[in-house]
Amino acid sequence: MSNNNIQIFDTTLRDGEQVPGCKLNTEQKVVIAEQLDQLGVDVIEAGFPVSSPGDFKSVEAISKIVKNATVCGLTRSVENDIKVAAEALKYAAKPRIHTGIGTSESHIVHKFKTTQEDILERAYAAVKYAKSFVEDVEFYAEDAGRTDNEYLARVCEAAIKAGATVLNIPDTTGYCLPSEYGAKIKYLKENVKGIEKAILSCHCHNDLGLATANSIEGVINGARQIECTINGIGERAGNTALEEVVMVLKQHPYLKLDTNINTSMLYGMSQLVSDSMGIYTQPNKAIVGANAFAHSSGIHQDGVIKNRETYEIIDPKDVGVTESAIVLTARSGRAALAYRAKNVGYELTKLQLDEVYANFLSFADRKKEINDSDIHQIIETSKIYNQIISA
Ligand code: KIV
Ligand code: ZN
Repeated sequence: MSNNNIQIFDTTLRDGEQVPGCKLNTEQKVVIAEQLDQLGVDVIEAGFPVSSPGDFKSVEAISKIVKNATVCGLTRSVENDIKVAAEALKYAAKPRIHTGIGTSESHIVHKFKTTQEDILERAYAAVKYAKSFVEDVEFYAEDAGRTDNEYLARVCEAAIKAGATVLNIPDTTGYCLPSEYGAKIKYLKENVKGIEKAILSCHCHNDLGLATANSIEGVINGARQIECTINGIGERAGNTALEEVVMVLKQHPYLKLDTNINTSMLYGMSQLVSDSMGIYTQPNKAIVGANAFAHSSGIHQDGVIKNRETYEIIDPKDVGVTESAIVLTARSGRAALAYRAKNVGYELTKLQLDEVYANFLSFADRKKEINDSDIHQIIETSKIYNQIISA
């Protein structure tokens, strides 16, 4: 792995599946895991094995079928969680236990009702115990986003001493600003003793719509793994969207950070997750939304028809979308109408286009979107139809 390779840790089947009403059965999870493996993710977080017999069964089944990716199971810093996760992961070619504990003042005082020193000891003990089952142990400092950096560095040091290979720095509540999150990663890179023995991981939630920006700031400042989900699904406002961070890095090559993702599978992957979970993807969702490559205003359509790059920064084929769409509405201009008419078999002269366009506008004012059969009707009912077909 080059130092500029960003590991993609997919948690669609764990953090993503925490969305209320979106529970998947084992068969559905296995299908998604197979596709994630094909997509090229480096780690699949398959579930939280101790949480239910169903989750245990899913992690076990995924461990058996995944060929390339590391398969990971979540635990709390509790011995039984770790033992059960190790059991569920026993068939995985590359197993990882993901264990951790809350480190912010709020978690220590209100959730655990204990002290910083006690949390440090529990963190160390959990990693040490997980290491007795597997080599690859990731430690998460829950609510690291709101944890004081000096204390966070001490917790990270303890986890490294116990053998952690990855340090996950979650912005659990999605509170950090990108500059703050980036500075946190930089601080840990510069101040944690033994940091060269582990990689730092970004796990950002989207409560303020900053998950993608925070993850990108994290890797710019030295993190080498991003935890994310397909379509950004997850608790509350969701997690970092996999398709977004992957495309940000691809479209900004001067950052010199790349991933192993086959981006042409992104659109299909988004559809699979959305269909399996029954979660509709908003049409304006970046990269995979229905309108991500659709142009409807006349000015934009004219530009895109002349040269796609006037209004598109991504070639739709790069993410598995066949082509950009020129959507006909009452806001569309003559260029778009001529383009769509040509696609259904009519080559219109300038004069013919003027005539047909007037007819189009009166149709479009009555209908939200004009489809191919409407175009036929618009042309057939225009006064100059006979000239068009005899041309
Ligand atoms: O958001 C979070 O803190 C988490 C941890 C359990 C990794 O999902
Ligand atoms: Zn999370």
